[in-house]
Amino acid sequence: MRAVVCQELGPLDHVVIEERPTPVAGPGQVVVDVRAMGVNYVDGLLCQGRYQMKPATPYIPGGELAGVVSAVGDDVSRVGVGARVMAMTGFGAFAEQVLVHGASLEPIPSDLGFGQAAAFIQSYSTAWFTMTRRTSVHEGEWVLVLGAGGGIGLAAVDVAVALGARVIAAASSIEKLEAARSMGATATIAYEGEDLKVRARELSDGGVDVVIDPVGGRHSEPALRAMRKFGRLCVIGFASGPIATVPLNQVLLNNRTVIGVDWGAWAMGDPGDNREMLGELVELVENGRLHPTVPDERPLAEAATVMAGLLDRSIAGKVVLVP
Ligand SMILES: NC(=O)c1ccc[n+]([C@@H]2O[C@H](COP(=O)([O-])OP(=O)(O)OC[C@H]3O[C@@H](n4cnc5c(N)ncnc54)[C@H](OP(=O)(O)O)[C@@H]3O)[C@@H](O)[C@H]2O)c1
Repeated sequence: MRAVVCQELGPLDHVVIEERPTPVAGPGQVVVDVRAMGVNYVDGLLCQGRYQMKPATPYIPGGELAGVVSAVGDDVSRVGVGARVMAMTGFGAFAEQVLVHGASLEPIPSDLGFGQAAAFIQSYSTAWFTMTRRTSVHEGEWVLVLGAGGGIGLAAVDVAVALGARVIAAASSIEKLEAARSMGATATIAYEGEDLKVRARELSDGGVDVVIDPVGGRHSEPALRAMRKFGRLCVIGFASGPIATVPLNQVLLNNRTVIGVDWGAWAMGDPGDNREMLGELVELVENGRLHPTVPDERPLAEAATVMAGLLDRSIAGKVVLVP
């Protein structure tokens, strides 16, 4: 079977396609015939050796997938051959067949295609964890989403709308803002040209209640300043590179709160709670309250190109690889 292999950490031209042996399911394991692989910002960072964790090379990148169970080892009762499943794998998802622990598979909601499912778990879990576990978002509140045309951004727009919030989407391009609008954003700010603080205050009639920030850098401070009293700024990531520093007087003023979000660490530390949370998300999809975007599909051979497109900001929305 074919797999994407990162031969050594560094430039993405070390990411190539190789033939690998077909996996065999041992006890507790399942082989998934992969139909779609979600590509996330972190996958490119890992291959470049720019993430805090440095995988031993060579390794198969890819953190999430969706597909069909083709073989089941002993002691697996949750899923059978033929089941449509999705999973977070951490590594190893960019391959035609992948060995996954039976316990970490989740049935795909019937309304989701393989592409939507492969791009679902990381983005939606992070957004839902932020807005239900790290803070609460109430009906009618204003939520400002930075990087709203990216993976976390689009999921955050969808989740905030599902919670009854009014969403202002901020992003760098018309294409990304359009994608956020089609997810339900009420208003948009093109933050490379417009004043983020001023426009967010104007659009929300005085200040936003919640900021969702997966971007960091120079956008975080104006977003903090755009919050009304009791505003909550949720720090999710630093896709722009620099880790923002903010003047603490701006936190004191208006009784604001800055909230750290680390869904990955929480999920690993509390797998039972994480599974329960994923169940909530699946139910929201099945009830028609969440509407995961249909991602662009690219061939497996374009893995490096897609990762580069996320790192250089040129990709709008979600992309999945297909075998
Ligand atoms: N805390 C957690 O639990 C958690 C979980 C998952 C992911 N994350 C992190 O969240 C961040 C976003 O992930 P994602 O999947 O949403 O990524 P993504 O799909 O690549 O979107 C990130 C967005 O950041 C913006 N951006 C601004 N400057 C950028 C730059 N110099 N390079 C790249 N992007 C830039 C881009 O939007 P504009 O072009 O519109 O500015 C881009 O669409 C990453 O840092 C990721 O590691 C955190």
